[in-house]
Amino acid sequence: MAEVRLESIGKVYPNGFRAVSDLSLTISDGELLVLVGPSGCGKSTAMRMIAGLEEITDGTLKIGDKVVNNLRPKERDVAMVFQNYALYPHMSVRENIGFALKVAKVPKTEIAERVSRAASVLELEKLLDSRPANLSGGQRQRVAMGRAIIRNPSIFLLDEPLSNLDAKLRVKMRAEISRIQAELGVTTLYVTHDQVEAMTLGDRVAVIRDGLLQQVDTPQVLYDTPANLFVAGFIGSPPMNLWQAGVTIGETTASVRIGEQSVELEAETVARVPDLAEFSGREVVIGIRPEDLAIGGVDNQEWPALSATVGLVEPLGSEILVHFDPGAPLAATGDPDMEDLSAEGDVLAELAVAKFGPRESFAISEKIELRMDPARLHFFDAEGGNAI
Ligand SMILES: Nc1ncnc2c1ncn2[C@@H]1O[C@H](COP(=O)(O)OP(=O)(O)O)[C@@H](O)[C@H]1O
Ligand SMILES: [Mg+2]
Repeated sequence: MAEVRLESIGKVYPNGFRAVSDLSLTISDGELLVLVGPSGCGKSTAMRMIAGLEEITDGTLKIGDKVVNNLRPKERDVAMVFQNYALYPHMSVRENIGFALKVAKVPKTEIAERVSRAASVLELEKLLDSRPANLSGGQRQRVAMGRAIIRNPSIFLLDEPLSNLDAKLRVKMRAEISRIQAELGVTTLYVTHDQVEAMTLGDRVAVIRDGLLQQVDTPQVLYDTPANLFVAGFIGSPPMNLWQAGVTIGETTASVRIGEQSVELEAETVARVPDLAEFSGREVVIGIRPEDLAIGGVDNQEWPALSATVGLVEPLGSEILVHFDPGAPLAATGDPDMEDLSAEGDVLAELAVAKFGPRESFAISEKIELRMDPARLHFFDAEGGNAI
């Protein structure tokens, strides 16, 4: 068991490209920390530097108290599972799992014992004599995990291990990985581009963008108080609605302008976000999650109201997503995947969204009045995007 400490780690590839900048992060002993961000943001690079597969350009990497920058992969006591794990097709599950120990010339009886222990954790006992070709995707994934577990590493590194599985299996394997990690108590870094996977698996989640750490905290804190626009737009599904807005804070009243609408803010909101006063008369970005919008009713009469036109209704059975236009365009967050959608002129990407219970009904082009939960309004500096 060990703590992993990254101190201002950076990576510049030989072609001059900087993939990771000034990354400081501690993975506590026994913790499962998830590194999440869009494709190409430097997740695998960071993980490969920890594994020793990629040279560290700047900073210090410690495992326990030891600086390991210059240790070879073998000397670091880490085991890595990749997205494209390769099993030996001509070997049985038993031989695949035990292979690293065989190469290390571990005595046969000990190999048998350790394979059987790993197989029991992974619930692969009945499949030990099968060949990979006869296994399902999920079973193969567990064998790949077995090959890592068997080495009793101090640190587990998992790089998008579930990407090749279909959606239903991914959910199941996510739970499996969570169970196995908790059972073994091994310090684990898990890399994914999928924010749902990150939120459900991580004790803590580190969000990175363009090689730069944006925020690291528990899933709930990331959801409740995103540090900037990027995290606000990246965590949560559907993502937070964000609009460019003007704030005016007077002696007794406060309001924000969204498009042509002036929305009153309650005194509690102004008190909750004291720094908002500094932005009076300036542009900010205001955010509200789809699930924090409500249809006007008796219990939310005091909430700030927003008039909107329904653009599209998506009934999902358990809930309804209503895509709406309040007469103001959405603000950009810097998430390349979302921006690709807007670039394609996708109508959904230009509409805001609200989430309601399944028994509500809405018609396209209907005018609705939405209530915004004032405790769940988010404000960001329009310049730089940091939370206010
Ligand atoms: N060997 C390399 N030489 C130059 N650039 C690289 C190399 N490997 C990766 N990159 C670039 O570094 C960035 C981060 O890559 P990577 O860490 O694989 O991202 P992620 O795992 O988050 O998708 C990408 O822009 C990628 O093109
Ligand atoms: Mg990667």
